[in-house]
Amino acid sequence: MSLVGRSLISLNNWSLNEVQDLFSQSRQFKQNPEQSLFNSAGKLVSLAFFEPSTRTKLSFQTALGRLGVLSSDLGPLSDSSMVKGESFSETLKTIEAMQPDLTILRVNATAGEYDTIKDCSMPIINAGCGATGHPTQALTDVYTMSERLSVEGLKVLFVGDVNHSRVVKSNIELLKKFSGISFGFCGPEAFLPPANEYKNSTLFSSLEEALSWCNICMGLRVQKERHSKEEFSTAQYQKNYRLTAEKIEKHLSKDAFIMHPGPHVPEMDFDPLIFNDPRCLVRNQVSNGVYIRMALIASILGLQEGV
Ligand code: CP
Repeated sequence: MSLVGRSLISLNNWSLNEVQDLFSQSRQFKQNPEQSLFNSAGKLVSLAFFEPSTRTKLSFQTALGRLGVLSSDLGPLSDSSMVKGESFSETLKTIEAMQPDLTILRVNATAGEYDTIKDCSMPIINAGCGATGHPTQALTDVYTMSERLSVEGLKVLFVGDVNHSRVVKSNIELLKKFSGISFGFCGPEAFLPPANEYKNSTLFSSLEEALSWCNICMGLRVQKERHSKEEFSTAQYQKNYRLTAEKIEKHLSKDAFIMHPGPHVPEMDFDPLIFNDPRCLVRNQVSNGVYIRMALIASILGLQEGV
């Protein structure tokens, strides 16, 4: 089915063919990011980020710039009329009344926000929604995996705050479309889903054991802002679950890869020395995010190749 005029809230209703088509278009943009598109003039995309972001927002802005599509940006909420008491709902409806061709939205995802989003007639891309989903990050991650390994049959390990991770939820939603995928989750018990929540999954309490098991090790940030209280010991977490160059060297297969959707917090989840490891794909994820988002925006706006 064509993506023209469609929203992307979750990947639930995407077929594997649609995913593969998007990957193929992303590959074309990667080979030629300056590819001209003849009907981008006059299109307008709005950015509305109600939660902080570095890479997702910049990645969408970079993609829009490369495509030659105009954008408007709500900007930091401290510069918006929300500081004068205007609601999320009224803010989104105000954006909609300006008739953008597409809105890129990051929200915290309360029930009221969902109702407003469902009530919008403009296409919306979910650019990260509370702890529930981040589909463009998942597309970026799986595309990055596919550049190195066949996705079918992969053993994908998530280390850290799995329960609060929207990236994990969207990655699982997407990876389940490929055959033979197994999932591993590693972290303190309070961070992990119940053993039977996901098919073909294994819970690991030992990071060393988990690292020896996987083809892909995806580190995650401990989302302190989403914990109601201190549910874990920082010192214990750092000792047992922080990914270090030493643990990777000792336990991760030479043919496996290390990923992290970001943001990464060096003291808690990710030793910066890992960036020097040739198996580390974190920078590739960031670069590929631009091509995935170019392909997605071009598809939703119905942009076509120029001459
Ligand atoms: N991966 C991700 O969503 O990062 P940002 O919060 O920086 O956008």
